[in-house]
Amino acid sequence: MKIYFPNFFQALLLIVLFTGGSAAFANEKSFIDEIKGADAPFDNRSVKLVRPVTLETVLAKEEYQGGAFRVLARKQHIERYKCSSCHVPGKPVLVQQGFELTHGDVVINHGRKGNELSCIDCHNQEDRDYLEDKKGRKIDFDHSYQLCGQCHFRQKRDWLGGAHGKRVTNWAGDRVVYNCASCHNPHSPRFEKRFPATYSVPLN
Ligand code: HEC
Ligand code: HEC
Ligand code: HEC
Ligand code: HEC
Repeated sequence: MKIYFPNFFQALLLIVLFTGGSAAFANEKSFIDEIKGADAPFDNRSVKLVRPVTLETVLAKEEYQGGAFRVLARKQHIERYKCSSCHVPGKPVLVQQGFELTHGDVVINHGRKGNELSCIDCHNQEDRDYLEDKKGRKIDFDHSYQLCGQCHFRQKRDWLGGAHGKRVTNWAGDRVVYNCASCHNPHSPRFEKRFPATYSVPLN
């Protein structure tokens, strides 16, 4: 019978592995130790219910049954904001085919067929950094629900009450909801029709 006998380097390696490894384990408490070590029984009141919303929000200029609430801000999502970097109030932008070059992607499919909404039904003609209501008052892009709500008052009422749209986080904590434009593209607000991702397997 031949006994395995490590040479000097192999022995050194074994010593390092063994002592290093056990030192690492010595610092760590096992799960079982942690459970055994816990002195208080599980208390669901200690579970954190309020999850903070990390997205940028603004205080809505409306109230719902529960009082004030917040909506997701929009401006930082608008690629071409600030509009006044080109649209200096009082000065027309004089670029040939400027519209096609800068806003060629804006296609309006909103309104009744043959009578689609025009840009200045919603955008302020003088100050493009703002939207505009029917009475010519400026509406901030973060509060575009005020614009939509003028024509879609039923959906806005439902949205205020929580029956249309969606709350961002759970029921505890501040009420934060998605803005109309978080979901709908204002230029073409209908959602594309989709085929169901799956179908029901017939029951036998
Ligand atoms: C890179 C420059 C640029 C930026 C940024 C820009 N625009 Fe424009 N926009 C133009 C040009 C050029 C035209 C075509 C000339 C004109 O109508 O003044 C135009 C035209 C328009 C029109 C149509 C004008 C009309 O009377 O028919 C609207 C509405 C408009 N822009 C809105 C906006 C809004 C809202 C923003 C910001 C979210 C914006 N634009 C940002 C360059 C720009
Ligand atoms: C129904 C109202 C409505 C109409 C009509 C409308 N817009 Fe807008 N537009 C909006 C709103 C609201 C936003 C901001 C969307 C957001 O929050 O993302 C916007 C955003 C924009 C932007 C910035 C998009 C980006 O991400 O850079 C441009 C440019 C623009 N509109 C141009 C136009 C032009 C040009 C027309 C006409 C051809 C037009 N809009 C018609 C409501 C409208
Ligand atoms: C000036 C009035 C006006 C404003 C402002 C307006 N809309 Fe509309 N919207 C209309 C009209 C008119 C229709 C077409 C309704 C129809 O065909 O029955 C429409 C259609 C729609 C539809 C499709 C409805 C359907 O039954 O398929 C959606 C979604 C929508 N709008 C969302 C919005 C959103 C979001 C905003 C704000 C960014 C907005 N609208 C602002 C007038 C407006
Ligand atoms: C969380 C996303 C979301 C938000 C926020 C949202 N909507 Fe909608 N909206 C939808 C969906 C989904 C539909 C149904 C689309 C369909 O059936 O094709 C819809 C449908 C609509 C319609 C068509 C008519 C109807 O009731 O089905 C209108 C008009 C409309 N929304 C306007 C608004 C307005 C105005 C706001 C803001 C006050 C808003 N929406 C906020 C997702 C949203």
